[in-house]
Amino acid sequence: MGKQILLGVTGGIAAYKSAELVRELRRQGHEVQVVMTSGARAFVQPLTFQALSGHPVRESLLDPEAEAGMGHIELAKWADLVLVAPASADIMAKLACGLADDLLTTVCLATEAPIALAPAMNQAMWRNARTQRNRSLLVEDSQFRLWGPEAGDQACGDTGPGRMLEPEVLVQEVAALQEQPLANLRVVITAGPTREALDPVRYISNHSSGRMGFALAEAAAQQGADVTLVAGPVEQPTPTGVTRIDVTSAREMKNAVDWAVAAGTDWFIATAAVADYRPLAIADQKMKKQAGADAPVIELEENPDILAGVAGRTEQRPLTIGFAAETRNLADYARDKLSRKGLDLIVANDVSTPGLGFNSDSNAVEVFWGGGSERFEARPKRELARDLIRLFHSHQNSRPA
Ligand code: C5P
Repeated sequence: MGKQILLGVTGGIAAYKSAELVRELRRQGHEVQVVMTSGARAFVQPLTFQALSGHPVRESLLDPEAEAGMGHIELAKWADLVLVAPASADIMAKLACGLADDLLTTVCLATEAPIALAPAMNQAMWRNARTQRNRSLLVEDSQFRLWGPEAGDQACGDTGPGRMLEPEVLVQEVAALQEQPLANLRVVITAGPTREALDPVRYISNHSSGRMGFALAEAAAQQGADVTLVAGPVEQPTPTGVTRIDVTSAREMKNAVDWAVAAGTDWFIATAAVADYRPLAIADQKMKKQAGADAPVIELEENPDILAGVAGRTEQRPLTIGFAAETRNLADYARDKLSRKGLDLIVANDVSTPGLGFNSDSNAVEVFWGGGSERFEARPKRELARDLIRLFHSHQNSRPA
C-alpha cells in the first residue's frame, strides 16, 4: 500500500541519487514530498525534486507563503515515514541532540512517524567517534532506523564506509518497514531480576536491569508479534503494543509464564535473571538485630526452573530460547545448558567484559543451537534485539510444522 513519505535531502554529493530515489518511491505507489536543507541546494536544484515529486519543495521553516499551504506541523503529521537521504554527519548530530533549527530538523522533532536515515559522508567523518556516538544514540531511539552506509569508493577519492545505499536498496528497506514478518506470532518473554523476600522489608535479588528482555519485546512487537512481557521489578518503560505482567518472586513469574504459555504461544524467551534459591521461611515481622547473638543463618530452598519447565512441555511446546550469563568457559557452559534444559537456542554473554552485558546498554553474545552457532559482536541492546529476533525467526521457519 502506498505511503506518504517525507524525503529529507541534506548536503552531500549523494543528493543527486535522491532524485532517482523519488522516482523509485513514486513508482512503488508512494506519495513523496521533499524538504531540502540549505546544504542540499548546493548540490541539486529544488526544481528537480519538484518535477519528480509533483509537489513544491519545502526549504525554509520561516516562509509564510509555504506555511500558508501546509505548515511544518501539518507536514510532520502528514508523513507516514520520514526518510533522510542522504543524511549528513551534521543532521545525525542535530537529530541525536533533538535540535530544531531548520525545517527538516523541526519536522523530525514534531513527527511521530518513524524516521529512517541513509547516512552518506566521507569515511573519516563516519568513523569519527563523535559520529559513532550520535549513531548509537539514534539507534537506541526507537523512532529511528539507520540504513547503511555501505563501504566502497567515495567521491572524494577515499575508500571506506560512508557511501549511501543505492536508491533501489532504500526502496526495499521502505517495503520491509511496512512488512510485519511476525504478524500472528505470539511471544512470551521474561525479563529483569526476581526478588525473594526474607521478611517484609528485605529480599535476595540481583543486578539485572531487564533491558535486554524489554528490547526484545519492543523489537518483536514492532514486527507485528503479540508480545506478553513478564517483568520482575525493573525501572523500564513498557514498549508500545506490549502486554506487561509485573511480578516479584520466581514463583510469581512461573505462574504468570505458565498461564501465558498455556493460553498458547509460539516463542518463549527467558531473559530474566531468576533467583535460583529463595529463603525457606519468610518472617512475618522485620527481623531484629539481637545484641550479642550469633548472625542469623538463612536457610534456602530451590526455586522452580521456569525455562526448563516450558522446554519440557509435551504439548503446545513453543520455540524455547534461554539466556546464559557466564564469566568463563562461555561456549561449554552454554552448550551444556542448551542440552540439559532441552532448549532450541541459547544466547550466551560473557558478563566479565566491562561495559557489556548486565546493567549496560550494549551487549555482545554468541547464540548456540543443536546444529551450530552465531556470534554477534558488541552493539546497542536495541540493535542486538532486532538481530536476535531475525535469527529466532529463521529457526521458527525451519521447525517441523
Ligand atoms: O541455569 P541458569 O540460571 O544459568 O539459566 C539461565 C536461563 O534459565 C535464563 O534463560 C533464565 O531466564 C532461565 N531460568 C529460569 N528459571 C530459573 C532459572 C533460570 O527460567 N529458575
